[in-house]
Amino acid sequence: MKTAEILNKEKLTREDLLYLMNIENPEDINLIYEKAYEIKEREIGKKVFYRGLIEFSNNCIKDCSYCGIRKSSKNVERFFMSKEDILESAKWIYENNYGSLVLQSGERQDEEFTAFVEDVVKEIKNLSQGKLGITLSLGEQSKETYKRWFDAGAHRYLLRVETSNEELYKKIHPQDKKHDFDVRIRCLEDLRNTGYQVGTGVMIGLPGQTSEDLVEDILFYEKMDVDMIGMGPYIISDETPMGEEYRDKIMSKEKRVTLGLKMIALSRIYLKDINIAATTALQGLDPLGREKGLKAGANVLMPVTTKGEHRAKYQLYNDKPCIDDTAEQCKGCLAGRVKSVGDEIAYGEWGDSPHYIKRKSRS
Ligand code: 5AD
Repeated sequence: MKTAEILNKEKLTREDLLYLMNIENPEDINLIYEKAYEIKEREIGKKVFYRGLIEFSNNCIKDCSYCGIRKSSKNVERFFMSKEDILESAKWIYENNYGSLVLQSGERQDEEFTAFVEDVVKEIKNLSQGKLGITLSLGEQSKETYKRWFDAGAHRYLLRVETSNEELYKKIHPQDKKHDFDVRIRCLEDLRNTGYQVGTGVMIGLPGQTSEDLVEDILFYEKMDVDMIGMGPYIISDETPMGEEYRDKIMSKEKRVTLGLKMIALSRIYLKDINIAATTALQGLDPLGREKGLKAGANVLMPVTTKGEHRAKYQLYNDKPCIDDTAEQCKGCLAGRVKSVGDEIAYGEWGDSPHYIKRKSRS
């Protein structure tokens, strides 16, 4: 009874969010998902926006303790896609009418990399006559670099805060200047000030993370006034410091999936008009994870379009799904998944969040 009552409130409080985050009985959890889906339908429609994902390099200067492509990982075959290969994938995304793409890679901050990305962004704009939307997910950069890439034609940027709890952030990153929580926040602010639509997100089910932390993460999204969210469960990656320490001590897969879905649903209920992705990591723990994500209020999917030979090398965590599939196969597979939920793919649209559109029209 209490759950239904809370869900009918116009604006939930921190305590309400915590109450819902801690609910364990399946009927009440379903009420949360249903409410979230209802709000997504009202705010956005039964639409799913696609972002074709090109993971173009696993070279990385960072050493995040959870991540399979961290600098110190020795068993990773490093790769950097050529400009031609990236443009070929971009062309495929354009011709298949996905509307927009995401360029993601490990982090690099050198001039050669900055100039490469700048050039690739311009070329993608050219090959699509300006029609393809371009999102970047390339980590922490200087304000100047963000500006150069924005001027080249990128208009959205994803940079996960990973956790809004500074203490926990410190625990899952090396304690040095290169992994500084304050810099992450500064970058999110710089991105917004540069003019990007900004997305952030967290990992869910991290060792030591509490329900209170997750509620604070949702309040952080509100405080930062973000336009989009991409978040997913933490998954063990072997041969990382956290993988080794927590392999047998981590919350069960089912619990992490449920928490991940609850985070999607509660973010939708609380923030209403933002874009929320159903991420591959969800599917990594549950074969139906992405469908369940859509049912719990997500409205964005990021089909991997990285070319076959490189896919398996971009493994941020164990058992990443779809690494043997081609872009074609992913397309067919996802279309079936979206249909099974009763949603429709919004082909050919940039799919800006209503949240962003409203903010823009105010300024
Ligand atoms: N489990 C889940 N997500 C991970 N990421 C990196 N490593 C893992 C992992 N082991 C996520 C981080 C990063 C994004 C690109 O991938 O949140 O921001």
